[in-house]
Order: sequence, then C-alpha cells, then structure tokens
Amino acid sequence: MCGIIGYAGHRPAIPLLLEGLHHLEYRGYDSAGVAYPLGGKIQVVKSAGKLSLLENKIAGYPAQLATAGIGHTRWATHGLPVECNAHPHLSQNGRIAIVHNGIIENFQEIKDELAARGHVFASETDTEVLAHLIEEDKAQCSSWLEAFASALKRAHGAYAVAMIAADEPDVIYAARMSAPLLLGTGTGECFVASDIPAFLSYTRDVVFLEDGEIARLQKSRWEVFSLNDLKKLSKKVDHIAWDMQAAAKDGYRHFMLKEIMEQPRVITDCLSGRLVREGGAWKVRLPELDALPEPSHLHIVACGTSYNAGLWSRNLLENIGGIPVDLDIASEFRYRAPLLRKGEAVLVISQSGETADTLAALRLAKEKECPVIGLCNVVGSSIARESDVVLYTQAGPEISVASTKAMCSQMVMLTLLSLYFAQRAGRSDGELADALSSLPEQLSSILPGLKNRAEQLAVKYSASRNFFYLGRGQCYALALEGALKLKELSYIHAEGYASGEMKHGPIALIDAQFPTFALALDNELFYKVQSNIQEILARNGRVIALVQANGEKLADLGVEDLWQLPQAHPVISGFLALPALQLFSYATADYLGKDVDQPRNLAKSVTVE
Ligand code: F6R
Repeated sequence: MCGIIGYAGHRPAIPLLLEGLHHLEYRGYDSAGVAYPLGGKIQVVKSAGKLSLLENKIAGYPAQLATAGIGHTRWATHGLPVECNAHPHLSQNGRIAIVHNGIIENFQEIKDELAARGHVFASETDTEVLAHLIEEDKAQCSSWLEAFASALKRAHGAYAVAMIAADEPDVIYAARMSAPLLLGTGTGECFVASDIPAFLSYTRDVVFLEDGEIARLQKSRWEVFSLNDLKKLSKKVDHIAWDMQAAAKDGYRHFMLKEIMEQPRVITDCLSGRLVREGGAWKVRLPELDALPEPSHLHIVACGTSYNAGLWSRNLLENIGGIPVDLDIASEFRYRAPLLRKGEAVLVISQSGETADTLAALRLAKEKECPVIGLCNVVGSSIARESDVVLYTQAGPEISVASTKAMCSQMVMLTLLSLYFAQRAGRSDGELADALSSLPEQLSSILPGLKNRAEQLAVKYSASRNFFYLGRGQCYALALEGALKLKELSYIHAEGYASGEMKHGPIALIDAQFPTFALALDNELFYKVQSNIQEILARNGRVIALVQANGEKLADLGVEDLWQLPQAHPVISGFLALPALQLFSYATADYLGKDVDQPRNLAKSVTVE
C-alpha cells in the first residue's frame, strides 16, 4: 500500500526522502513523488512507475538546498496509476503540498463543494481535495496546524497524511486515522513515515502516533496534539532494537506471521471506500463493475489458495448475489474446452496476477469473447492488465511464499461482490454489511489468543505424519485451505475433505495416529459435522475441533481439543477461522524448524505451467 516519508532536519532532504521511499518499496506502489519547499515556493517532482524514474527526473531539479520535504509511493485507489494522480498534491494556490495513505470516503461531496466555489483539480484523487480544503480552511484559522486539523475533521475514512507549507519551509505536519504513521526523532532532525525502515538508518527513536493525533515536526522539535481540540499530548519515545531486516518484518519472526497478524488492517483497507454508509444504509461501491452487464453465470477460475477463496465464496455469490457460479482449477479449465455462453463472465482470482495457468485461462476466456473480471493483489500484473475489469484486493505485498492475508482480502472482496450484485438487483443484507464493517476490530481482539492456542496445539500434534481437515459448506473450502497450509509449510501430509465424503473412503485411514482438524462452526450444518466427528471418535481418531457456542456439545462427545472462537455472523465466522488455520500451520512448521517463509520446492509466483 502507499508509503509516506517526511523529513525536517539539517541534511539535504531529497536523498533521505528517496532512501526512505526505497525502504517502503516492499509495500507495493505504481507511482512516486516528492515535494520540498525552496525559495518561498513548493517544488513537486513525481513520476509514474518505479522509483528509478523519479530519481532520474529529480536529477534535473535544483534540490540540494532543501532540508525538509515529503515523499510518497502510491498504490492506485482513486484514479489510474499515472503521473497526475501521483502524490504529493498541491492546493489550489500551490502553497501547500500533501501526501496521503488511505481513502477519504466523503471526498466527492467535499470536491463538489470546493468546485462550486471555483476550485479546479489537477487529478482524480481524494488527496488533492484534502489539500484544497486545508488551504481554504486556513483563511479562517490562525495557523497551519489549526487549518490542517479543521480540514481533517471533515474527512471521513482511514488516512495518514503529511503536509508542508511554503511559508513554513522547515516544518512538517502529519496526522493519523486508522492508517500507520510514526515519527522518528533524531539529533537535529525528525522524520515521519508509514513504517520504521524508512528512517531506521538515521534514528532508532520512534514515537507511535495513535488515531486522532496530529504532529508538528521541525529539526530540533516535535510536538503531538489531539486532533479534536489541539491539546498538546505527552508521548513516549520508544527505542527500536531491531535491525533493518527485522524492521521490515515489523518485529515478527517471519513475514508469514506478520502477514497473518496484519489481516485486520488488510480488511480495513479492502473495505475502505467500498462499503460505505449512505443515508443510514450500507452501500457497496465497486465502480469498476458498474459498466459491466450483470453476468447470467460466473465461472471462477484460480489456483491453490486463490481457488479456495473462490470456493468459499460460491454460496455467497449464489445465495446473496443471485448469480449461478461454477468453479475450476485454472490448469483444468484451460484444457477442457469450457462452454462459455453469451452473457456469462469469467472471474479469475490471483494474488500475484502472474500465475501461468490462471493467465492462460483468462486468455482462453477472452478468445471466446467472454468478459473477464480479474481479482488481483499486484497492481499492473499481467492478469490485472489483461482482464476487462480489475478489482484490486489491496492487501499490500505478500512476501511469505504461503498465501495468508491475500486469501483474507480475496474473501472480503468476494463478499463485497456478492453484496454488490444483490444491490444491483435491489436487495440488501444489512446484517452482513454491519458484521463485515466491525470485522477488523473483532479479528484484532482475538488474534493474540489464537496465536497462543495454535502454539499449544502445534507442540502437541507436531509428531503426526498425517492430518485430515474436514468441513461442510463454506467450511469445506477452509478445510482445503487448512490442509494446504499445513502440508506446504510443515511437510506433514494433510488432506482437506468435505465431511460428508469421509464415509465414502477416507474414513478407512482413521486410527489413533491419524488426527482430524474439524471445522465445526455454528451454522445450519453443525449437527451434520457433529455426526462425522462421532464417526471419527468411534474409530479412536483424535480430533481438534474449531468451534463456537455449540462447542459444548462436542466436549460431551469426548473431543480431545476444542478450539473456541467467538460467536459471529455465519459468513464472518469464516474470517475468524481462517487465521486459526494459518496460525496452526505456521506454529507447527516453526516448531519443527522448517523454513516458514520459503518452504522447499515452492515459488511465490508460479509463472510456468
Ligand atoms: C499457497 C499458495 C499458492 C497460491 C497459488 C496461486 O499458500 O500461495 O497455492 O495461492 O500458487 O497463486 P496466485 O494467487 O498468485 O495466482
């Protein structure tokens, strides 16, 4: 996702800003830029594409004397990844520049008001609107701090923002609301950034901003205020002991663990600007799809974890979205001469956007003149470019080879897609939308407990050579995903099955050495899963059961390990179960000393058949 860096100090700012942006590259971006005050004006240099293009461009500017500035790497949300949409953005009179991460949900309303008062915009972004609003508010305020706060109070959504003003060439303003932002406080210099690696070579002293806080930085002074009343706050300075590599992992032992633990943030980013409240009701905004006729049938095509996300969504797309769905593994679809009729559409799902089989399936669908919707994480990837319409999952770069947060973001997008199709047909599901909007908070509150329980169970079951994962309905897809994660990370043989299939063969394998991980969540199929568990227990099988309130019923049957999840909307329960499965596999592999982030024989992007 976007990256922010700001510097106010005694050294030339531009090399520091560029270095900081390089350290934020891992977040993914499609354009970049910097702004710095010089000679009573603000100079902005930006470029679409990689940082090297920005660096080449800056070489032609007189930037050596600037000792303050802001920089940004942008991952497109509002508007294409082109230079005019790259940050920083200037206000109407060009006297302030801002960079921004997140989405200002009510930007259109503010933009319309400003336009009516004569403002002209150079980009399609929500960020530029904020810059214009700050400039306008300054007329009623005695300081830039007040004007910055006043404009931010009107902005709804998640954001991290940094600003410079031409009349205060040595000051940076910054604010945070549900998007990461922190300060680095060195000797005679201060930084603001989305993440610690951006300035770790210069200072290890860090101040973590909280939501609703606003900061003013100068080279030898930093202050933090409450956004609401501009009361000065006293903040703690933390000293970071990690090295650069550990910092990129945010202090976690592995990228995989970091990526699992950041899923609440991923969900927030995914929902931001897409699930919005309008006139007291939830609205799903997927403008990318508005021009596409509603498909009479959707063919979902993907590989591995992305396939499992597609399978998980089938019931939702059919029952909520009202669209019949079939599903294919991409390597099968591409060779089976699929029947694609007029009015139907293909939905390809891919984190990397480069998976060879999925790309071939996309090309086949296009050859057959079937419209293709791409659900991708990596901006500008082949699948994103070749799809007729692309929905970005906005999970940020996934570095660990095993996919975790990408699946979570795919599940969010597929839930939104179901609600979107329902909305187009004049239906709504307020209960699900409510539950989805509070999911990030709910998930954050249970993740630490899930991690502890996963570690206990991993120690207990790590000697197993085989595992079954069972579930029904949407939990069948999660069972497949649980088994995939366990086998790829820990090299323990694991099979995911639809619980009802057990008696058609696999149950022959059950004995005291062959444990089963059952997804027995509270839904209309609970009692069916309960019967399947009874059959396993009757054959001396050991069972871990992921349960909610109905879990008590399984305790009475003698299930060895109940793993309790809180009660939730049945669709949302899947989002709580997913990290439990991921953490169990992670903890097992880590306990067994396996290379968690780079399991043997696997590649992050499977670009060959
Ligand atoms: C499993 C995993 C793979 C990928 C699969 C598809 O953890 O990462 O199964 O899901 O290779 O990759 P994408 O989604 O990039 O097309």
